Amino acid sequence: MKRKNVIVALLGITLGMSQVSVAQNHVDVKLKEQADAPEISRHIYGHFAEHLGRCIYGGFYVGEDSSIPNTNGVRNDIIEALKELNIPNLRWPGGCFADTYHWKDGVGPKEDRPSMVNKWWGGVVEDNSFGTHDFLNLCEVLGTEPYLAANVGSSTVKEFTEYTQYVMREQGVPMSDYRAENGRKEPWDVKYWGVGNEMWGCGGNMTAEHYANVYRQYATFMTDWTNSDGLFRIASGANVADYHWTEVLMKEVPKGLIEGVALHSYSFVEWEDKGSSTGFDEAQYFSTMQTALKMEELVDKHAAIMDKYDPENKIALIVDEWGGWYEVEEGTNPGFLYQQNTMRDAMIAGVTLNIFNNRADRVKMANLAQTVNVLQAVILTEDEKMLLTPTYHVMNMYKVHQDATLIPVEFHSPKYTLNGESLDAVSISASKDKAGKVHMSLVNIDAHKSQTVKVNVKDLGVKNVTASIVKSKTLQDHNTFDNPNKITPLNFKDFKLKKGELEIELPPFSVVVFEATK
Ligand code: AHR
Repeated sequence: MKRKNVIVALLGITLGMSQVSVAQNHVDVKLKEQADAPEISRHIYGHFAEHLGRCIYGGFYVGEDSSIPNTNGVRNDIIEALKELNIPNLRWPGGCFADTYHWKDGVGPKEDRPSMVNKWWGGVVEDNSFGTHDFLNLCEVLGTEPYLAANVGSSTVKEFTEYTQYVMREQGVPMSDYRAENGRKEPWDVKYWGVGNEMWGCGGNMTAEHYANVYRQYATFMTDWTNSDGLFRIASGANVADYHWTEVLMKEVPKGLIEGVALHSYSFVEWEDKGSSTGFDEAQYFSTMQTALKMEELVDKHAAIMDKYDPENKIALIVDEWGGWYEVEEGTNPGFLYQQNTMRDAMIAGVTLNIFNNRADRVKMANLAQTVNVLQAVILTEDEKMLLTPTYHVMNMYKVHQDATLIPVEFHSPKYTLNGESLDAVSISASKDKAGKVHMSLVNIDAHKSQTVKVNVKDLGVKNVTASIVKSKTLQDHNTFDNPNKITPLNFKDFKLKKGELEIELPPFSVVVFEATK
């Protein structure tokens, strides 16, 4: 090779680490079915709808008299989109809003309901026209399980206890009679109850030690001696890496009083300087992915503490808030947290769901923040228009993992390197569903390089393979109301199956889901 060519080649390899697409990486993957592998709870694919900005009012709920087609005031297009996603559960009414919410203000004739100030989110006045009946009836329409995050921070044990009775008791007790007066004779079936939200912050700025006692008190009165209601009580959990919080709850709360411990962790560039949801550079993308991938360490470390106090693995880790958080869109209310959703968000969704799938032994539920018009939304609306975001499409592709048995995956990820820092470029999870179909979801977060992934599928005996992909030209690409289908899942064909090996060319910043049958 001439000297000039050698230099060009060397330069290409160096630049290839961060700037241009040159040689591809090679990844060897082993899928190892395991007899004792956990089931991936469908509840990992849960959602979260808070009274925040235009999530409920002006999002889900447009009112019965709206010209937008609706069912009991909830947009039909949103209902259809969420049904398609098979959403397993929906958390409501907060978030921080939960600890300001007094449920009795949201039941009974709508015209008689008092108004309230949404103190955390823009200070706007809400008329309580969307309340408990509206939410629980919506869950029935959606075929999803409600997850009620109830008020501890500014409530009383009495108010909380009456709430569980109002929702769950058969007729014949004062609270169920009250419910019947308000139009619903039969109780709803609500298993998941959050006992406050972010009690270390907006829920009351409590210490872990104080909250552990408060939790014990609420958890006692919300059901009976033996929890014959079968409630799944979820303690407000740690903020990101606050391991002390998890340790105290696990140590101080008797096992018979708790079914789940929560964890909240968001992805962002820098908390104090979040940057635009669409106008970001590669360094900002890289930082966001650093925080997203941190979820693996968080889950591992919180789970390790839980293992210590609950070796029988009876208490679930519930990541009931996760997702990307950026500056609000220009000209929108800063308290409304309305942001666009790009390929960066598709990457966050793909890697995060893979992390949860792979830790399905302890993570039994998770809730993306939030469903409509807030943070990493799956749906955005503008008047009568609605669009599905790249995150929606990733969640739709990943729904095949719901209630499937995890297939552990072994591989060494190549690195995605920028400015001297490295991240694992490839993330994978796999599962086998009840019908015997194997699904594998792969993410390549590298902004430039594609990856050649070779999967040994000999033992699985698969013959037919199909795949779909979410990708786009730039990381900043997103769907708009004028071009709502810029990013949608496409058929993916860049793979070959030969002699028990699946060889895949995984493009830069893409999410691919495979389905393999015998
Ligand atoms: O999802 C937005 C907010 O983030 C929630 O209300 C709160 O729980 C968290 O801090």
